[in-house]
Amino acid sequence: MPTYRPPRIASSEITPRDIYLSRRNFIGSAAGLAAMGLSTQFAEATALTAKPGAYKLDEKVTPLDAVTSYNNFYEFGTGKSDPKANAGDFKTTPWTVKVDGLVGKPQEFGIEDLLKYPLEDRTYRMRCVEGWSMVIPWIGFSLSTILDKVEPLGSAKYVAFETVVRPEEMSGQRGLFQPLDWPYVEGLRLDEARHPLTILAVGLYGETLPNQNGAPIRLVVPWKYGFKGIKSIVRISLVEKQPETTWKNSNAREYGFYSNVNPKVDHPRWSQATEQRIGEGGFFSTQNRPTLMFNGYDEVASLYTGMDLKANY
Ligand code: MTE
Repeated sequence: MPTYRPPRIASSEITPRDIYLSRRNFIGSAAGLAAMGLSTQFAEATALTAKPGAYKLDEKVTPLDAVTSYNNFYEFGTGKSDPKANAGDFKTTPWTVKVDGLVGKPQEFGIEDLLKYPLEDRTYRMRCVEGWSMVIPWIGFSLSTILDKVEPLGSAKYVAFETVVRPEEMSGQRGLFQPLDWPYVEGLRLDEARHPLTILAVGLYGETLPNQNGAPIRLVVPWKYGFKGIKSIVRISLVEKQPETTWKNSNAREYGFYSNVNPKVDHPRWSQATEQRIGEGGFFSTQNRPTLMFNGYDEVASLYTGMDLKANY
């Protein structure tokens, strides 16, 4: 995330919300979607059944095409349009997620089993550290569901996450210039990981995740900057010490472990006081809205009682 560049999404790429809503009625019918000429990125997608989540958000969802064409996924390139352009052949089946470390019952979960968990619709406000934001209708389940199954030991204080390394399928992992060290790694404190807002997402907009959004399973932590939301996870480890995280390793002065959305703590190179909501205000809009503490998810404040959030950025 070298510099903040205002998003450029052609208005022709944007699907209005009413089309999304009418499209929901087609769920289960791939032919119906194709007939509407919508989103080739869903060609391989499977419809998912999710019950409405406890977290309702009364804000306009970001158009599907913006969610799936303006991405950060450096394994497929550093440009915002690279993930969609380059992730088409990424193989997400078979897929297993290994959960190990300081647990009583280490396990490997097959994605086909994870997709059978009771899934919830979790429409969340998402804030990227670069200054843009989206509202995304995720489908997923609480991370604590999986943590409960492996039975963390008392010594487990943090959760470490790891993305797959597959240079043969991930063009950003080949070649001389490697923007980051692989695998992409992330981490949460155990209480953050167990917070009911923290989910593993397996879908968005009613269907399995498009590759560019982190298929087949990725983390979503809506009160933190987007880079905490590690994609295409193959391993989750319970550990005692604060784990390494990719962006902190890359530039610890600019990106911290906590990375809570905080309008009062600026990035060293830009303000975090406001944000640009993608798809809002039309093409080339520079309309800004205020960024909210914890991205508006005030219920997490008690996780940080007594902590200096400027020092722990
Ligand atoms: N996960 C992996 N493995 N690789 C990445 O480059 N980028 C992060 C995060 N997860 C990234 C990743 C960043 S910077 C952001 S803002 C979000 O994914 C973007 O998620 P989205 O493209 O689904 O909106």
